[in-house]
Amino acid sequence: MYNIIEKQVLNPQMTRLRVQAPLVAKKALAGQFVILRVNETGERVPFTIADYSREAGWIDIIYQTVGKTTMLMDTLQAGDAIADFAGPLGKPTELEGYQNAVVVGGGAGCAIAYPSAKALHAGGARVTMVAGFRSAELIMLENEMHAVSDELLIMTDDGSNGRPGFVTNALQALHESGARFDLCVAIGPIPMMRAVAELTRPWGLKTIVSLNPIMVDGTGMCGGCRVTVGGQVKFACVDGPDFDGHLVDFDELRGRNGAYRACEQEACRLFQSAKEERR
Ligand SMILES: Cc1cc2nc3c(=O)[nH]c(=O)nc-3n(C[C@H](O)[C@H](O)[C@H](O)COP(=O)(O)OP(=O)(O)OC[C@H]3O[C@@H](n4cnc5c(N)ncnc54)[C@H](O)[C@@H]3O)c2cc1C
Ligand code: FES
Repeated sequence: MYNIIEKQVLNPQMTRLRVQAPLVAKKALAGQFVILRVNETGERVPFTIADYSREAGWIDIIYQTVGKTTMLMDTLQAGDAIADFAGPLGKPTELEGYQNAVVVGGGAGCAIAYPSAKALHAGGARVTMVAGFRSAELIMLENEMHAVSDELLIMTDDGSNGRPGFVTNALQALHESGARFDLCVAIGPIPMMRAVAELTRPWGLKTIVSLNPIMVDGTGMCGGCRVTVGGQVKFACVDGPDFDGHLVDFDELRGRNGAYRACEQEACRLFQSAKEERR
């Protein structure tokens, strides 16, 4: 069992859990993830390692409450335990040798982009971070992102905080003002990653995206996380989750991610009605 040592609600949709997992923390690197099961009958769900301490032996995961398992996670408190917590899985993001990077996070994707910004900053790169949220109440990790960026641009779709507009507006403005980067890391919803990749393509700017296909085993055996990159079949759990954004087949990814939507909605409905009955 893996003890939850801290729980923090970051905004109405996002929560951070700090989990005691010394063996995972010992080897964790930016870009990797864990697969957990809340209890013995729980489904296996992947979450990015948002932060870690090798010395204290903890891992932070930051999750968005979107369905049955994340609702179940919401019921856990500090002092409770998670049954399985396997990792670190996947390849670490390749972040060495860059001097001037722009890290773009969209909503929940900021939790996944933050460790890349932190690793780039620690490696001596100049980091510009662009973080986009739908509105002010959803802004999270502002202090953390600030601490690992030379420049932090907060964008909100409705202009209720920071600058109004999408992350692509900020990126375009940076380019027009003469900013030139040697790496772009873009993590967020599929349409956002695709839009960033299309913007940076004509600039010839290397753009890494982190893909979130359905995963089951996380070891390259089940094929659930199959994606197409540059016309080749890849398994995101072992070949990724990071890939060259200019080569990803985003249409296929979106289609495959929607394959179980009806089952997910039904599981969510059953979980909520069981919860109501217990009240
Ligand atoms: C490598 C990787 C890292 C991820 N990191 C994070 C993270 O740091 N924070 C975060 O909030 N989310 C992350 N996700 C997505 C997260 O795994 C899903 O949101 C979670 O599984 C939802 O489960 P649910 O039962 O609450 O929702 P469901 O109702 O089951 O599903 C809601 C959404 O989650 C997706 N999903 C469901 N099951 C899985 C699964 N087994 N694998 C992948 N996606 C699934 C579905 O496509 C759907 O869009 C990551 C996914 C991957 C592949
Ligand atoms: S999750 Fe099974 S092959 Fe990747």
